[in-house]
Amino acid sequence: MATTITQPAQPPAGKRASGRSIVLRNVGHTFTDRGGNAVHALADVSLQAQRGELLALVGPSGCGKTTLLELICALQAPQQGTIDSEPAVLMPQRDLLLPWLSAVDNAALALRIAHVPRATARSRAAALFAQLGLDGFEHSHPAELSGGMRQRVAFARTLLSGKPVLCLDEPFGALDAITRAEMQEWLAGALAREPRTTVLVTHDVEEAILLADRVLVLSPRPGRVIGELVVSAPRPRARTDDNVIALRERALELLSRGARS
Ligand SMILES: Nc1ncnc2c1ncn2[C@@H]1O[C@H](COP(=O)(O)OP(=O)(O)OP(=O)(O)O)[C@@H](O)[C@H]1O
Ligand SMILES: [Mg+2]
Repeated sequence: MATTITQPAQPPAGKRASGRSIVLRNVGHTFTDRGGNAVHALADVSLQAQRGELLALVGPSGCGKTTLLELICALQAPQQGTIDSEPAVLMPQRDLLLPWLSAVDNAALALRIAHVPRATARSRAAALFAQLGLDGFEHSHPAELSGGMRQRVAFARTLLSGKPVLCLDEPFGALDAITRAEMQEWLAGALAREPRTTVLVTHDVEEAILLADRVLVLSPRPGRVIGELVVSAPRPRARTDDNVIALRERALELLSRGARS
């Protein structure tokens, strides 16, 4: 397993090179708060993801992680820099399931919005439910599902958008430790069956190292990339693996150094 800390390489100018799914160059973003003050969320972020890569982003609260995902998904336009990405879909920090719809109809929502007929949308969602360990819960409503189940439904909805890039914003942030560990294994399996370029935002350094091909560490606001860890250990990875432990220590060190500077 290699541990490297590098400045992310700059892609050549012009079009996205073949094999790259996402390329950000020198992206900066500033909000204006209600008092009219500038809030610098991101500064000079350059990163790229290869097609099929799972890239994790870790950084302190408020450092611009959600903003970065929204920019990749073109929900906002960057104020500085450029973004070149294949079409990307956001799985938001909160699951945002509609309480009045069944699980299968919630999952099928992206298809319904794209004018896919209800029966076709439902049957495509139901087929995915079996793969994602949700069979038998098609007609349950969100309030009848556990937190882990709700996240699986939200993930099914995200996959059904058909977009080649998934941006997952703290998908397991609200789950207890045991469910979270189960869901990490589940996500690794789901992505092995349905490979997509994935950007995973998490506060949990260990989760990032267990799941990702590469982990980018962000500084406190304004978020900048302050380190990159390449995780080359074979999957499935154990928390107790020496390499996982060493990388976790390295990431924590980078985060605490970032917090001090
Ligand atoms: N629409 C907005 N208007 C003003 N400020 C905003 C807006 N959206 C985000 N911010 C500010 O930008 C900064 C980055 O926000 P963002 O939600 O991207 O951080 P985050 O890293 O996702 O945080 P968390 O880990 O808590 O989810 C924060 O200081 C936030 O208050
Ligand atoms: Mg966030």
